[in-house]
Amino acid sequence: MRSILLSAFAALAVATLGCEKKTAPVEPPKPADVKPLEGKPAPAPAADTGDIIIGEVGSLTGSEAAFGISTRNGIELALEDANAAGGVKGRKVKVIVYDDQSKPEEAASATTRLITQDKVKLVLGEVASSNSLAMAPICQDNKIPMISPSSTNPSVTEKGDYIFRVCFIDPFQGFVMAKYAREELKFKNVAILKDVKSAYSVGLTEVFERKFAEMGGKVLGIESYAKGDTDFRSQLTAIKKLKPEGLYVPGYYNDVGIIARQARELGLKTVMMGGDGWDSEKLFELGGKAIEGSFVSNHYSPEDPSPQVQNFISKYKGKFGGVPDSLAALGYDAANVAIEAMKRAPDLSGPALRDEIAKTKDFPGVAGTISMNEKRDAVKPAVVLQVVDGKFKYVATVKP
Ligand code: PHE
Repeated sequence: MRSILLSAFAALAVATLGCEKKTAPVEPPKPADVKPLEGKPAPAPAADTGDIIIGEVGSLTGSEAAFGISTRNGIELALEDANAAGGVKGRKVKVIVYDDQSKPEEAASATTRLITQDKVKLVLGEVASSNSLAMAPICQDNKIPMISPSSTNPSVTEKGDYIFRVCFIDPFQGFVMAKYAREELKFKNVAILKDVKSAYSVGLTEVFERKFAEMGGKVLGIESYAKGDTDFRSQLTAIKKLKPEGLYVPGYYNDVGIIARQARELGLKTVMMGGDGWDSEKLFELGGKAIEGSFVSNHYSPEDPSPQVQNFISKYKGKFGGVPDSLAALGYDAANVAIEAMKRAPDLSGPALRDEIAKTKDFPGVAGTISMNEKRDAVKPAVVLQVVDGKFKYVATVKP
């Protein structure tokens, strides 16, 4: 049985975090950290005694740039900690980061390059499920382990036994919001607006629709858009005619912010709901007042008073100057899971690393405790957050 636990930590957190500044705007990536895909070949691969080289593929520019930048910050912090504590097998760990410009094709070529030219031991990435889906078969074919920090579409880890993630999957996340909508918000009728170009959005739509109906609710209609669209008015007009109590938009922050604004302009006042893809400070810039009062499912809340979360937040703030979002937390967790597996492994070959990542059990991540199940997914609770005064407020925790 799954249950919604209304936790007391929101109230506690207000006392400790109430007067904090909001998350700083994401900075563009520093050019020195990010290698272009074109250009000079990477330096010769390190020998067995040099630095241990791992790879990272992220959306550092393009439509979902905030995802890649936060993730990269989290990974950088984890490597800094690990190297300060002596590294892995007496060697320092270095990461080569490629920017995929928020495009699956670029994510695929970056992955090939990391493996064939840079000879990385493992690959961290991506955030957006469609990008991870383009990378996974390449890692699998080359027997190089890949850990996605935050891709939630189930098919990502189904690509093979070298593909892992440190987060929950969408069948759970979709259930969480359907249950919250049905049982807490008491909605009977909702509509959905999905991105047909995103594996994530299509997957979550399917789960939410099914679960909401199983719980006795009704999905009155599903409208579609495609990544890159900027005018959502005709879909929103169609949705308005249905008079839904709630509108589920399982998209990414960049589209959702604009959708919210256009919805309100058209007089569609219904409560909006979404998933982890909303998670960025940019959402509040783009959505402004239009996004207020909405609900999302997500991986972690910075209001969690546990010392582990609060220590991570203060380290992150010290280095990057803002409150870390769930991308940063999961980037940090993914890198730490990789580092621990490299420490335990008898050697750094792909098969040896794969075996050790698969054995990850009760690892204390910032965004929840990580144990790999037989499908190489982490099974963890989700949080429900509400947009209040231009930030996410903790509302509830839902256990799997
Ligand atoms: N879960 C999203 C996907 O699979 C990515 C994401 C994770 C976005 C966490 C924001 C926060 O596409």
